[in-house]
Amino acid sequence: MPTSDPLLEVAGLSIRIAAGQGNLVDDVGFAVGRGETLCIVGESGCGKSLTGLSLMGLLPTPPAQVAGGSVRFEGRELLGLSQAALGDLRGDRMAMIFQEPMTALNPAFTIGDQIAEGVERHRATGRRAARNRALEMLEKVGIPAAASRLDAYPHQLSGGMRQRAMIAMALANDPQLLIADEPTTALDVTIQAQVLDLIRDLQRDTGTALILITHDLGVVAEVADRVAVMYAGRIVEEGPVGAIFDDPQHPYTIGLIGSLPGLESGRGARLVTIPGMVPAPEAMPQGCRFADRCPFAIPRCAEAPALRALAPGHRVACHRAPLEDNVAAEEAA
Ligand SMILES: Nc1ncnc2c1ncn2[C@@H]1O[C@H](COP(=O)(O)OP(=O)(O)OP(=O)(O)O)[C@@H](O)[C@H]1O
Ligand SMILES: [Mg+2]
Repeated sequence: MPTSDPLLEVAGLSIRIAAGQGNLVDDVGFAVGRGETLCIVGESGCGKSLTGLSLMGLLPTPPAQVAGGSVRFEGRELLGLSQAALGDLRGDRMAMIFQEPMTALNPAFTIGDQIAEGVERHRATGRRAARNRALEMLEKVGIPAAASRLDAYPHQLSGGMRQRAMIAMALANDPQLLIADEPTTALDVTIQAQVLDLIRDLQRDTGTALILITHDLGVVAEVADRVAVMYAGRIVEEGPVGAIFDDPQHPYTIGLIGSLPGLESGRGARLVTIPGMVPAPEAMPQGCRFADRCPFAIPRCAEAPALRALAPGHRVACHRAPLEDNVAAEEAA
């Protein structure tokens, strides 16, 4: 469970798009400590991006709508804050990077102006100091000939360089929390590794906490302190990275980890589809949302299982966990 003084504490977070449909994010809760890395994994459409966006007040509303819950950051409730108050936090105490850098970069302004503007806005500095900070950040993220790139427009940079520029902008004010949603998926494999190493190096230097949303289990194994596994809008398992990989307890997690080809080969390993389909939003079951794909389902799975601790810090939402013990006992009976 949460560290004694978590940086971020999310509880009961629910998000819906349309009335009459099941919540697309349902009763999600987790905590992130200072400097910690939490990876959120799960199949496409399970609600990872909606969760990430909602933490920063960036949900597209409408159509999305927070239906309940709490997001406490540095002890302060963020749900219900005005966009002006959230705007003061974003790019300052917390920042987000995306798969597609043009989500964050404005094509009409130079890289240097965009980074400097964020610095000027959040820090009481003048134009010159802000521009110096922009240069320092471009150097930090490994953009060659940084001084001349200050005056480049986003389209004049390669995809990998644009990604670095977005990271420079996100980290320019030393955020306490960085949310990275598939930050390397659109890049080719060598550049992916470089950008990921860059994020980790900067994180180590600055003590920034990281929420990394990714499909790449190899990356998770390498960078996560803790892992939250989502399925159809819910967290089905959450725990220290070692427990998730070595002792997964939810049948869905077991499927994911079991389907992981050559973890040793590290990056690039991806989630492999488990037979069956994720329930549609208009047909979300009342009970366990994984039950109709689950080889271990029992009648009781018609009731939604609560997330409960199996070991300190390791929580599972499955009636049959611990799975091996229970399956063996039931077979013996
Ligand atoms: N603006 C929107 N309008 C309608 N439905 C949406 C919208 N945004 C997300 N959804 C739906 O909400 C669900 C969760 O979407 P989300 O983008 O959070 O998934 P994800 O886990 O990030 O998936 P991926 O791995 O593909 O990025 C999906 O079923 C998606 O179709
Ligand atoms: Mg997404």
